[in-house]
Amino acid sequence: MYFHGTSKVNTKGHLEIGGVDTIELANDYGTPLYVYDVALIRQRARDFQTTFKNLGVKAQVAYASKAFSSVAMFQLIKEEGLSLDVVSGGELYTALVADFPVDRIHFHGNNKSVEELEMAVEKQIGCVVVDNFLELTLLQDICEKHGYTMPILLRVTPGINAHTHDYILTGQEDSKFGFDLQSGQAHEAMKIASNATHLDLLGIHCHIGSQIFETTGFKLAAGKLFDTLKLWNDKEGFEARVVNLGGGFGIRYTEEDNPLPASVYVEEIITDVQSFVKDHGLKMPEIWIEPGRSLVGDAGTTIYSVGSKKEIPNIRHYLAIDGGMTDNIRPALYQAKYEAVLANRVEDEADDKVSIAGKCCESGDMLIWDLPLPKANHEDYLAVFCTGAYGYAMANNYNRITKPAVVFVEDGEAQLVIRRETFEDLVRLDLPFQAKTKLTK
Ligand SMILES: Cc1ncc(COP(=O)(O)O)c(C=O)c1O
Repeated sequence: MYFHGTSKVNTKGHLEIGGVDTIELANDYGTPLYVYDVALIRQRARDFQTTFKNLGVKAQVAYASKAFSSVAMFQLIKEEGLSLDVVSGGELYTALVADFPVDRIHFHGNNKSVEELEMAVEKQIGCVVVDNFLELTLLQDICEKHGYTMPILLRVTPGINAHTHDYILTGQEDSKFGFDLQSGQAHEAMKIASNATHLDLLGIHCHIGSQIFETTGFKLAAGKLFDTLKLWNDKEGFEARVVNLGGGFGIRYTEEDNPLPASVYVEEIITDVQSFVKDHGLKMPEIWIEPGRSLVGDAGTTIYSVGSKKEIPNIRHYLAIDGGMTDNIRPALYQAKYEAVLANRVEDEADDKVSIAGKCCESGDMLIWDLPLPKANHEDYLAVFCTGAYGYAMANNYNRITKPAVVFVEDGEAQLVIRRETFEDLVRLDLPFQAKTKLTK
Protein backbone atom coordinates (compact mmCIF):
# COMPACT_ATOMS: atom_id res chain seq x y z
CA MET A 1 0.00 0.00 0.00
CA TYR A 2 1.32 3.44 -0.90
CA PHE A 3 0.69 6.45 1.34
CA HIS A 4 1.19 10.00 0.14
CA GLY A 5 2.39 12.89 2.31
CA THR A 6 1.23 12.72 5.93
CA SER A 7 -1.25 9.87 5.29
CA LYS A 8 -0.80 6.89 7.59
CA VAL A 9 -2.69 4.27 9.58
CA ASN A 10 -3.43 5.25 13.19
CA THR A 11 -3.75 2.99 16.23
CA LYS A 12 -7.44 2.40 15.48
CA GLY A 13 -6.53 1.05 12.06
CA HIS A 14 -8.05 4.17 10.47
CA LEU A 15 -6.57 6.29 7.71
CA GLU A 16 -5.16 9.47 9.19
CA ILE A 17 -4.19 12.53 7.15
CA GLY A 18 -2.50 15.65 8.53
CA GLY A 19 -2.76 14.14 12.00
CA VAL A 20 -6.57 13.87 11.71
CA ASP A 21 -8.58 10.63 11.71
CA THR A 22 -10.51 10.49 8.41
CA ILE A 23 -13.39 8.62 10.07
CA GLU A 24 -13.81 11.51 12.50
CA LEU A 25 -13.77 13.83 9.50
CA ALA A 26 -16.46 11.74 7.83
CA ASN A 27 -18.58 11.90 11.01
CA ASP A 28 -18.08 15.64 11.41
CA TYR A 29 -18.47 16.78 7.80
CA GLY A 30 -20.32 13.92 6.09
CA THR A 31 -19.38 12.08 2.92
CA PRO A 32 -18.29 12.26 0.16
CA LEU A 33 -15.58 14.50 1.51
CA TYR A 34 -12.41 15.78 -0.15
CA VAL A 35 -9.56 15.94 2.35
CA TYR A 36 -6.46 17.97 1.45
CA ASP A 37 -3.09 17.40 3.10
CA VAL A 38 -1.86 20.99 3.43
CA ALA A 39 1.68 20.00 4.44
CA LEU A 40 2.04 18.02 1.20
CA ILE A 41 0.86 20.97 -0.92
CA ARG A 42 3.39 23.19 0.87
CA GLN A 43 6.14 20.61 0.31
CA ARG A 44 5.36 20.30 -3.41
CA ALA A 45 5.33 24.10 -3.79
CA ARG A 46 8.63 24.44 -1.97
CA ASP A 47 10.25 21.63 -3.99
CA PHE A 48 9.70 23.60 -7.21
CA GLN A 49 10.62 26.97 -5.71
CA THR A 50 13.82 25.85 -3.98
CA THR A 51 15.10 23.97 -7.02
CA PHE A 52 15.02 27.15 -9.10
CA LYS A 53 16.58 29.06 -6.21
CA ASN A 54 19.38 26.53 -5.81
CA LEU A 55 20.07 26.67 -9.55
CA GLY A 56 20.25 30.46 -9.36
CA VAL A 57 17.60 30.76 -12.07
CA LYS A 58 15.08 33.60 -11.89
CA ALA A 59 11.70 31.93 -12.07
CA GLN A 60 8.00 32.11 -11.34
CA VAL A 61 6.17 28.95 -10.33
CA ALA A 62 2.52 29.61 -11.12
CA TYR A 63 -0.08 27.24 -9.70
CA ALA A 64 -2.34 26.14 -12.57
CA SER A 65 -5.50 26.73 -10.63
CA LYS A 66 -7.71 24.75 -13.00
CA ALA A 67 -6.53 21.70 -11.02
CA PHE A 68 -8.42 22.91 -7.94
CA SER A 69 -9.56 26.45 -7.37
CA SER A 70 -11.08 27.82 -4.22
CA VAL A 71 -10.53 30.93 -2.12
CA ALA A 72 -8.68 28.98 0.61
CA MET A 73 -6.51 27.18 -1.93
CA PHE A 74 -5.51 30.50 -3.51
CA GLN A 75 -4.71 31.90 -0.05
CA LEU A 76 -2.49 28.90 0.67
CA ILE A 77 -0.71 29.36 -2.66
CA LYS A 78 -0.27 33.05 -1.88
CA GLU A 79 1.21 32.15 1.52
CA GLU A 80 3.72 29.90 -0.27
CA GLY A 81 4.74 32.77 -2.55
CA LEU A 82 3.73 31.14 -5.84
CA SER A 83 2.13 32.87 -8.80
CA LEU A 84 -1.27 31.88 -10.14
CA ASP A 85 -2.47 30.78 -13.57
CA VAL A 86 -6.19 31.38 -14.21
CA VAL A 87 -8.17 30.52 -17.34
CA SER A 88 -11.51 32.22 -16.88
CA GLY A 89 -13.23 35.20 -15.39
CA GLY A 90 -14.48 32.88 -12.64
CA GLU A 91 -10.99 31.75 -11.65
CA LEU A 92 -9.79 35.36 -11.81
CA TYR A 93 -12.71 36.46 -9.63
CA THR A 94 -11.88 33.75 -7.08
CA ALA A 95 -8.27 34.99 -7.02
CA LEU A 96 -9.47 38.55 -6.39
CA VAL A 97 -11.74 37.40 -3.56
CA ALA A 98 -8.73 35.55 -2.10
CA ASP A 99 -6.85 38.85 -2.30
CA PHE A 100 -4.18 37.20 -4.44
CA PRO A 101 -1.45 39.68 -5.51
CA VAL A 102 -2.64 40.76 -8.97
CA ASP A 103 0.86 41.20 -10.34
CA ARG A 104 1.40 37.46 -9.90
CA ILE A 105 -1.72 36.40 -11.82
CA HIS A 106 -1.32 35.03 -15.36
CA PHE A 107 -4.43 34.77 -17.53
CA HIS A 108 -4.78 31.87 -20.00
CA GLY A 109 -7.52 30.68 -22.33
CA ASN A 110 -8.15 30.06 -26.01
CA ASN A 111 -11.27 32.22 -26.22
CA LYS A 112 -11.18 34.92 -23.58
CA SER A 113 -14.23 37.13 -23.80
CA VAL A 114 -14.12 40.92 -24.04
CA GLU A 115 -15.50 41.02 -20.47
CA GLU A 116 -12.73 38.73 -19.23
CA LEU A 117 -10.03 40.81 -20.94
CA GLU A 118 -11.58 44.01 -19.55
CA MET A 119 -11.46 42.48 -16.07
CA ALA A 120 -7.79 41.55 -16.50
CA VAL A 121 -6.93 45.05 -17.70
CA GLU A 122 -8.98 46.86 -15.04
CA LYS A 123 -7.33 44.79 -12.31
CA GLN A 124 -3.91 45.26 -13.95
CA ILE A 125 -2.94 41.60 -13.58
CA GLY A 126 0.64 40.45 -14.11
CA CYS A 127 0.37 38.87 -17.54
CA VAL A 128 -2.06 37.78 -20.22
CA VAL A 129 -0.99 34.70 -22.17
CA VAL A 130 -2.34 35.62 -25.59
CA ASP A 131 -3.63 32.67 -27.57
CA ASN A 132 -4.78 34.00 -30.97
CA PHE A 133 -4.95 36.97 -33.36
CA LEU A 134 -8.41 38.11 -32.26
CA GLU A 135 -7.21 38.33 -28.68
CA LEU A 136 -4.20 40.41 -29.73
CA THR A 137 -6.49 42.97 -31.33
CA LEU A 138 -9.07 42.96 -28.53
CA LEU A 139 -6.47 43.27 -25.79
CA GLN A 140 -4.61 46.11 -27.54
CA ASP A 141 -7.91 48.01 -27.98
CA ILE A 142 -9.01 47.48 -24.38
CA CYS A 143 -5.59 48.48 -23.03
CA GLU A 144 -5.59 51.60 -25.20
CA LYS A 145 -9.05 52.52 -23.89
CA HIS A 146 -7.83 52.14 -20.31
CA GLY A 147 -4.46 53.79 -20.96
CA TYR A 148 -2.69 50.69 -19.65
CA THR A 149 0.10 48.56 -21.10
CA MET A 150 -0.39 44.84 -20.46
CA PRO A 151 2.57 42.46 -20.15
CA ILE A 152 1.87 39.48 -22.42
CA LEU A 153 3.27 36.15 -23.52
CA LEU A 154 2.39 34.47 -26.80
CA ARG A 155 1.22 30.89 -26.45
CA VAL A 156 2.71 28.75 -29.22
CA THR A 157 2.29 25.10 -30.18
CA PRO A 158 5.75 23.68 -30.66
CA GLY A 159 4.53 20.48 -32.34
CA ILE A 160 5.66 18.13 -29.59
CA ASN A 161 3.59 15.08 -28.75
CA ALA A 162 3.89 14.51 -25.03
CA HIS A 163 3.61 10.90 -23.93
CA THR A 164 0.19 11.01 -22.34
CA HIS A 165 -3.52 10.42 -22.92
CA ASP A 166 -4.83 11.84 -26.22
CA TYR A 167 -7.56 13.93 -24.65
CA ILE A 168 -5.13 15.94 -22.58
CA LEU A 169 -2.61 16.65 -25.26
CA THR A 170 -2.33 20.35 -26.01
CA GLY A 171 1.17 20.94 -27.40
CA GLN A 172 0.79 19.23 -30.76
CA GLU A 173 0.37 21.23 -33.95
CA ASP A 174 -3.23 20.13 -34.53
CA SER A 175 -4.50 21.89 -31.42
CA LYS A 176 -7.09 24.52 -30.57
CA PHE A 177 -4.52 26.31 -28.40
CA GLY A 178 -2.00 28.96 -29.31
CA PHE A 179 -0.14 30.22 -32.39
CA ASP A 180 1.33 27.63 -34.73
CA LEU A 181 5.11 27.79 -35.01
CA GLN A 182 5.57 25.80 -38.21
CA SER A 183 3.39 27.93 -40.47
CA GLY A 184 4.82 31.25 -39.28
CA GLN A 185 1.68 32.29 -37.34
CA ALA A 186 3.70 32.77 -34.17
CA HIS A 187 6.24 34.93 -36.00
CA GLU A 188 3.44 37.11 -37.37
CA ALA A 189 1.92 37.42 -33.89
CA MET A 190 5.30 38.46 -32.46
CA LYS A 191 5.58 41.25 -35.03
CA ILE A 192 2.05 42.50 -34.27
CA ALA A 193 2.60 42.33 -30.50
CA SER A 194 6.00 44.04 -30.69
CA ASN A 195 4.49 46.95 -32.58
CA ALA A 196 1.36 47.26 -30.43
CA THR A 197 1.39 50.45 -28.42
CA HIS A 198 -0.27 48.98 -25.33
CA LEU A 199 1.14 45.44 -25.21
CA ASP A 200 4.48 44.62 -23.63
CA LEU A 201 5.64 41.33 -25.17
CA LEU A 202 7.66 39.51 -22.47
CA GLY A 203 8.20 36.28 -24.37
CA ILE A 204 6.60 32.96 -25.23
CA HIS A 205 4.70 30.11 -23.63
CA CYS A 206 3.99 26.49 -24.40
CA HIS A 207 2.27 23.63 -22.61
CA ILE A 208 2.82 20.20 -24.10
CA GLY A 209 0.44 18.00 -22.14
CA SER A 210 -0.30 16.54 -18.76
CA GLN A 211 0.77 13.66 -16.50
CA ILE A 212 4.19 13.49 -18.20
CA PHE A 213 6.77 11.18 -16.59
CA GLU A 214 10.00 12.11 -18.30
CA THR A 215 11.73 15.30 -19.38
CA THR A 216 12.32 14.52 -23.07
CA GLY A 217 9.14 16.26 -24.25
CA PHE A 218 9.81 19.37 -22.17
CA LYS A 219 13.38 19.57 -23.49
CA LEU A 220 12.30 19.11 -27.11
CA ALA A 221 9.69 21.83 -26.67
CA ALA A 222 12.18 24.16 -24.97
CA GLY A 223 14.59 23.53 -27.87
CA LYS A 224 11.93 24.61 -30.36
CA LEU A 225 11.11 27.72 -28.33
CA PHE A 226 14.74 28.80 -28.13
CA ASP A 227 15.29 28.10 -31.86
CA THR A 228 12.32 30.38 -32.45
CA LEU A 229 13.69 33.04 -30.12
CA LYS A 230 17.04 32.91 -31.91
CA LEU A 231 15.25 33.46 -35.24
CA TRP A 232 13.17 36.33 -33.83
CA ASN A 233 16.30 37.84 -32.33
CA ASP A 234 18.25 37.61 -35.61
CA LYS A 235 15.41 38.82 -37.82
CA GLU A 236 13.56 41.34 -35.66
CA GLY A 237 15.94 42.03 -32.77
CA PHE A 238 13.36 40.62 -30.35
CA GLU A 239 14.75 39.68 -26.94
CA ALA A 240 12.60 37.46 -24.70
CA ARG A 241 12.53 38.30 -21.00
CA VAL A 242 10.31 35.32 -20.10
CA VAL A 243 9.94 31.74 -21.35
CA ASN A 244 7.03 29.81 -19.85
CA LEU A 245 7.27 26.04 -20.22
CA GLY A 246 3.79 25.26 -18.87
CA GLY A 247 2.81 22.44 -16.55
CA GLY A 248 2.16 18.74 -16.96
CA PHE A 249 4.51 17.15 -14.43
CA GLY A 250 3.21 13.69 -13.57
CA ILE A 251 2.10 12.23 -10.25
CA ARG A 252 1.71 8.71 -8.90
CA TYR A 253 -1.94 7.64 -9.05
CA THR A 254 -1.16 3.90 -9.06
CA GLU A 255 1.90 1.69 -9.07
CA GLU A 256 1.97 1.95 -12.88
CA ASP A 257 2.99 5.61 -12.59
CA ASN A 258 6.61 6.63 -12.12
CA PRO A 259 6.87 10.41 -11.87
CA LEU A 260 10.16 12.19 -11.27
CA PRO A 261 10.72 14.41 -8.24
CA ALA A 262 10.05 18.11 -8.97
CA SER A 263 13.75 18.85 -8.55
CA VAL A 264 14.70 16.39 -11.31
CA TYR A 265 12.12 17.74 -13.77
CA VAL A 266 13.37 21.27 -13.17
CA GLU A 267 17.11 20.51 -13.08
CA GLU A 268 17.05 18.46 -16.30
CA ILE A 269 14.99 21.03 -18.19
CA ILE A 270 17.09 23.96 -16.95
CA THR A 271 20.35 22.24 -17.94
CA ASP A 272 19.10 22.08 -21.52
CA VAL A 273 17.67 25.60 -21.42
CA GLN A 274 21.02 26.96 -20.28
CA SER A 275 22.83 25.29 -23.16
CA PHE A 276 20.22 26.50 -25.73
CA VAL A 277 20.71 30.04 -24.43
CA LYS A 278 24.49 29.73 -24.61
CA ASP A 279 24.54 28.08 -28.06
CA HIS A 280 22.22 30.73 -29.52
CA GLY A 281 24.00 33.65 -27.83
CA LEU A 282 20.77 34.78 -26.14
CA LYS A 283 20.25 36.37 -22.73
CA MET A 284 18.90 33.94 -20.10
CA PRO A 285 15.21 34.80 -19.71
CA GLU A 286 13.18 34.33 -16.56
CA ILE A 287 11.70 30.81 -16.60
CA TRP A 288 8.07 30.33 -15.65
CA ILE A 289 6.32 27.00 -15.11
CA GLU A 290 2.70 26.15 -14.34
CA PRO A 291 2.27 22.95 -12.32
CA GLY A 292 -1.32 22.08 -11.42
CA ARG A 293 -1.73 18.37 -10.81
CA SER A 294 1.75 17.96 -9.30
CA LEU A 295 1.01 20.56 -6.60
CA VAL A 296 -2.36 19.24 -5.42
CA GLY A 297 -3.07 15.84 -7.00
CA ASP A 298 -1.70 13.46 -4.41
CA ALA A 299 -2.54 15.86 -1.57
CA GLY A 300 -6.25 15.13 -2.07
CA THR A 301 -8.13 12.04 -0.84
CA THR A 302 -11.86 11.48 -1.16
CA ILE A 303 -13.70 9.71 1.66
CA TYR A 304 -16.94 7.97 0.65
CA SER A 305 -19.52 5.95 2.58
CA VAL A 306 -19.97 2.46 1.26
CA GLY A 307 -23.55 1.65 0.25
CA SER A 308 -25.18 -1.11 -1.74
CA LYS A 309 -23.53 -4.21 -3.18
CA LYS A 310 -24.25 -6.39 -6.16
CA GLU A 311 -22.41 -9.70 -6.34
CA ILE A 312 -22.80 -11.54 -9.66
CA PRO A 313 -21.48 -15.06 -9.20
CA ASN A 314 -18.41 -15.78 -11.32
CA ILE A 315 -18.65 -12.37 -12.93
CA ARG A 316 -18.05 -9.38 -10.67
CA HIS A 317 -18.66 -7.83 -7.26
CA TYR A 318 -19.93 -4.25 -7.45
CA LEU A 319 -19.64 -2.01 -4.41
CA ALA A 320 -21.45 1.33 -4.60
CA ILE A 321 -20.35 4.50 -2.87
CA ASP A 322 -22.22 7.75 -2.20
CA GLY A 323 -20.44 9.73 -4.95
CA GLY A 324 -18.91 8.90 -8.32
CA MET A 325 -18.63 10.73 -11.63
CA THR A 326 -20.17 13.84 -10.09
CA ASP A 327 -17.16 14.34 -7.78
CA ASN A 328 -14.57 12.51 -9.91
CA ILE A 329 -15.28 12.40 -13.62
CA ARG A 330 -11.72 11.41 -14.60
CA PRO A 331 -12.29 7.63 -14.75
CA ALA A 332 -15.32 8.14 -17.04
CA LEU A 333 -13.57 10.82 -19.11
CA TYR A 334 -10.02 9.46 -19.41
CA GLN A 335 -10.23 5.93 -18.00
CA ALA A 336 -8.08 7.33 -15.19
CA LYS A 337 -7.00 4.80 -12.57
CA TYR A 338 -6.96 5.19 -8.79
CA GLU A 339 -5.99 3.25 -5.68
CA ALA A 340 -8.25 3.00 -2.64
CA VAL A 341 -8.53 1.47 0.83
CA LEU A 342 -11.22 1.04 3.43
CA ALA A 343 -10.53 4.12 5.57
CA ASN A 344 -11.85 2.48 8.75
CA ARG A 345 -10.10 -0.89 8.25
CA VAL A 346 -6.96 -0.03 6.34
CA GLU A 347 -4.97 -3.07 7.41
CA ASP A 348 -7.65 -5.76 7.12
CA GLU A 349 -6.90 -8.51 4.67
CA ALA A 350 -8.05 -7.76 1.12
CA ASP A 351 -10.11 -10.96 0.70
CA ASP A 352 -12.52 -9.57 -1.90
CA LYS A 353 -12.14 -8.02 -5.34
CA VAL A 354 -14.68 -5.28 -6.01
CA SER A 355 -15.49 -2.73 -8.67
CA ILE A 356 -16.39 0.65 -7.22
CA ALA A 357 -19.61 2.02 -8.68
CA GLY A 358 -20.82 5.59 -8.44
CA LYS A 359 -24.46 6.45 -7.77
CA CYS A 360 -25.27 8.16 -11.08
CA CYS A 361 -27.70 6.77 -13.63
CA GLU A 362 -24.90 5.94 -16.03
CA SER A 363 -23.27 2.53 -16.49
CA GLY A 364 -19.98 4.30 -17.14
CA ASP A 365 -20.08 5.79 -13.65
CA MET A 366 -17.39 3.45 -12.29
CA LEU A 367 -14.51 4.78 -10.21
CA ILE A 368 -12.24 1.73 -9.95
CA TRP A 369 -12.38 -1.72 -11.56
CA ASP A 370 -11.35 -4.92 -9.76
CA LEU A 371 -9.92 -3.41 -6.61
CA PRO A 372 -8.58 -5.83 -3.96
CA LEU A 373 -10.41 -4.83 -0.74
CA PRO A 374 -11.54 -6.43 2.53
CA LYS A 375 -15.17 -7.62 2.36
CA ALA A 376 -17.03 -4.36 2.91
CA ASN A 377 -20.55 -3.33 3.92
CA HIS A 378 -22.55 -0.16 4.37
CA GLU A 379 -20.83 0.68 7.66
CA ASP A 380 -17.48 1.08 5.94
CA TYR A 381 -15.74 4.06 4.39
CA LEU A 382 -13.74 4.06 1.20
CA ALA A 383 -10.75 6.39 0.77
CA VAL A 384 -9.74 7.04 -2.83
CA PHE A 385 -6.24 8.51 -3.07
CA CYS A 386 -4.88 11.24 -5.36
CA THR A 387 -8.16 13.01 -6.06
CA GLY A 388 -6.78 16.50 -5.41
CA ALA A 389 -6.46 17.61 -9.04
CA TYR A 390 -9.34 17.88 -11.52
CA GLY A 391 -11.69 16.31 -8.95
CA TYR A 392 -13.61 19.10 -7.24
CA ALA A 393 -12.61 21.35 -10.15
CA MET A 394 -14.59 19.15 -12.56
CA ALA A 395 -17.38 18.26 -10.11
CA ASN A 396 -20.87 18.59 -11.51
CA ASN A 397 -24.50 18.23 -10.52
CA TYR A 398 -25.52 15.39 -12.82
CA ASN A 399 -28.65 13.75 -11.39
CA ARG A 400 -28.85 16.86 -9.19
CA ILE A 401 -26.30 15.36 -6.85
CA THR A 402 -24.85 17.98 -4.53
CA LYS A 403 -21.13 18.78 -4.56
CA PRO A 404 -19.17 17.44 -1.57
CA ALA A 405 -17.49 19.54 1.10
CA VAL A 406 -13.73 20.16 1.14
CA VAL A 407 -11.58 20.19 4.28
CA PHE A 408 -7.94 21.12 4.71
CA VAL A 409 -6.02 19.19 7.36
CA GLU A 410 -2.69 20.18 8.89
CA ASP A 411 -0.94 19.50 12.20
CA GLY A 412 -3.88 17.66 13.73
CA GLU A 413 -6.47 20.26 12.80
CA ALA A 414 -9.18 20.35 10.16
CA GLN A 415 -10.82 23.36 8.59
CA LEU A 416 -13.80 23.41 6.28
CA VAL A 417 -12.82 25.38 3.17
CA ILE A 418 -15.78 24.61 0.89
CA ARG A 419 -19.08 23.76 2.48
CA ARG A 420 -21.22 20.92 1.18
CA GLU A 421 -23.78 21.98 -1.39
CA THR A 422 -27.39 21.82 -0.19
CA PHE A 423 -30.61 21.10 -2.07
CA GLU A 424 -31.42 24.81 -1.64
CA ASP A 425 -28.14 25.64 -3.43
CA LEU A 426 -29.23 23.36 -6.27
CA VAL A 427 -32.41 25.30 -7.00
CA ARG A 428 -30.93 28.74 -6.23
CA LEU A 429 -30.73 29.72 -9.91
CA ASP A 430 -33.99 28.08 -10.96
CA LEU A 431 -36.98 30.24 -11.81
CA PRO A 432 -40.57 29.00 -11.73
CA PHE A 433 -42.37 28.08 -14.92
CA GLN A 434 -44.87 30.74 -15.96
CA ALA A 435 -48.08 29.14 -17.17
CA LYS A 436 -48.93 30.37 -20.67
CA THR A 437 -52.38 31.51 -19.62
CA LYS A 438 -50.82 33.88 -17.09
CA LEU A 439 -48.30 35.22 -19.62
CA THR A 440 -50.96 36.20 -22.15
CA LYS A 441 -53.05 38.09 -19.61
C1 LIG B 1 -1.64 26.04 -20.18
C2 LIG B 1 -1.63 25.05 -19.08
N1 LIG B 1 -0.75 25.21 -18.08
C3 LIG B 1 -0.71 24.34 -17.04
C4 LIG B 1 -1.58 23.26 -16.98
C5 LIG B 1 -1.50 22.35 -15.80
O1 LIG B 1 -1.20 21.06 -16.13
P1 LIG B 1 -0.95 19.99 -14.99
O2 LIG B 1 -2.11 20.04 -14.06
O3 LIG B 1 -0.86 18.70 -15.70
O4 LIG B 1 0.32 20.38 -14.31
C6 LIG B 1 -2.51 23.05 -18.01
C7 LIG B 1 -3.41 21.90 -17.97
O5 LIG B 1 -4.22 21.65 -18.78
C8 LIG B 1 -2.52 23.99 -19.09
O6 LIG B 1 -3.40 23.84 -20.09
